Amino acid sequence: MVVKSLKITNFRNYKNLSISFSPNINIIYGDNGQGKTNLLESIYVLGITKSHRSFIDNYLINNESVFAKISGIVDDGVISSKYEVIIEPQKKILKKDDNVINKINEYISKMNIIIFYPEDLELIKGSPSERRKYLNIQLSQIHKNYLKILNDYNKILKQRNELLKKYLKTQEIDKDYFEALTETLIERGTKIYQYRENYISNINKNVSDIYYNLIKIKNFKILYKPSIKFNNYDTEYIIKKYKEELEKTYDSELKQGMTIIGPHRDDFEFVVGTQNLKIFGSQGQQRLAVLSLKLSEVPIFKSYKKTYPILLLDDVFSELDDRKKNNLLKYITNNIQTFITTTDLKSINPEVFKSAKIIKVDNGKIITEEEV
Ligand SMILES: Nc1ncnc2c1ncn2[C@@H]1O[C@H](COP(=O)(O)OP(=O)(O)OP(=O)(O)O)[C@@H](O)[C@H]1O
Ligand SMILES: [Mg+2]
Repeated sequence: MVVKSLKITNFRNYKNLSISFSPNINIIYGDNGQGKTNLLESIYVLGITKSHRSFIDNYLINNESVFAKISGIVDDGVISSKYEVIIEPQKKILKKDDNVINKINEYISKMNIIIFYPEDLELIKGSPSERRKYLNIQLSQIHKNYLKILNDYNKILKQRNELLKKYLKTQEIDKDYFEALTETLIERGTKIYQYRENYISNINKNVSDIYYNLIKIKNFKILYKPSIKFNNYDTEYIIKKYKEELEKTYDSELKQGMTIIGPHRDDFEFVVGTQNLKIFGSQGQQRLAVLSLKLSEVPIFKSYKKTYPILLLDDVFSELDDRKKNNLLKYITNNIQTFITTTDLKSINPEVFKSAKIIKVDNGKIITEEEV
């Protein structure tokens, strides 16, 4: 996928910007606080409809305005289309080729973006919900149905939890309704388990080699940790086991007033051998583990979407020593559109400049654009 050009209106510190990009490497540079990350973020929001660094959409709107708009011409490998995200204080409008798209799963599943940024470390250090959120975003880009199934699951979960909460007050439960909800919950939940397990096992096909190439440590992998321990991921088996486990936890559910097992309690770990990097890894080992995870997703995205994902690399090079930087550079190639931000052009290997477009950002404006 390639973002050919972008128009930004009232997004963060950009009042009005119109820019075209190289289908290869784009280097965005400038001093601190000028708008490098904001420009990268606008591309991310154009694709994912949400920011990678702010839960609150309103922060994206320029301080002096009442709406923000990002519009981009995106080539998905077959055709070019215009995508648009308009953010207003109370609503968000998504458009493709000037038609409003109401189903967010339809919009996101057309996208193909992988982002690397300094706070990525939270994926290891943070709570399980961070990791689930990450998986959800990636799977929503790959599978059109995923987000719909997840939303269904969350809706049913909420209803089921309401029944359990009501039981806490009244000591009564509508058994038939509860069982019907449980059955659909299991049906949707099973699919979520399968999507997630399949995704992580695809990651594990190459993540260990990538980690080794970057940092020379063997036996790195991602360990999927669902709250139910499954021996395999066949539909019938999951349904049976899931049902059994829900029956076992039923008494606790009634006491706690909520559903305590299921995909909403999933987690995954970054491990070397049997050691969890969250506990034993150095900062650099953790950072490279997240980088490896993301690099391992590149071929997965390619195989599902038939085109490489866009790579957004925010301040990634400044954090690495020279050898690691060069190891990482081997993964950045010309047929993948890549955006790199930096405060210092010298921190980037001159090799990268060969086919790069250099974009200098100053206080929400582009002051130079040059193809090198
Ligand atoms: N909603 C907003 N309206 C106006 N300006 C904003 C808004 N949100 C953020 N900014 C401004 O954007 C600037 C930060 O931009 P950005 O994060 O892109 O910087 P950067 O170039 O990536 O810097 P660094 O090198 O420090 O990472 C700050 O000056 C901040 O005040
Ligand atoms: Mg920045």
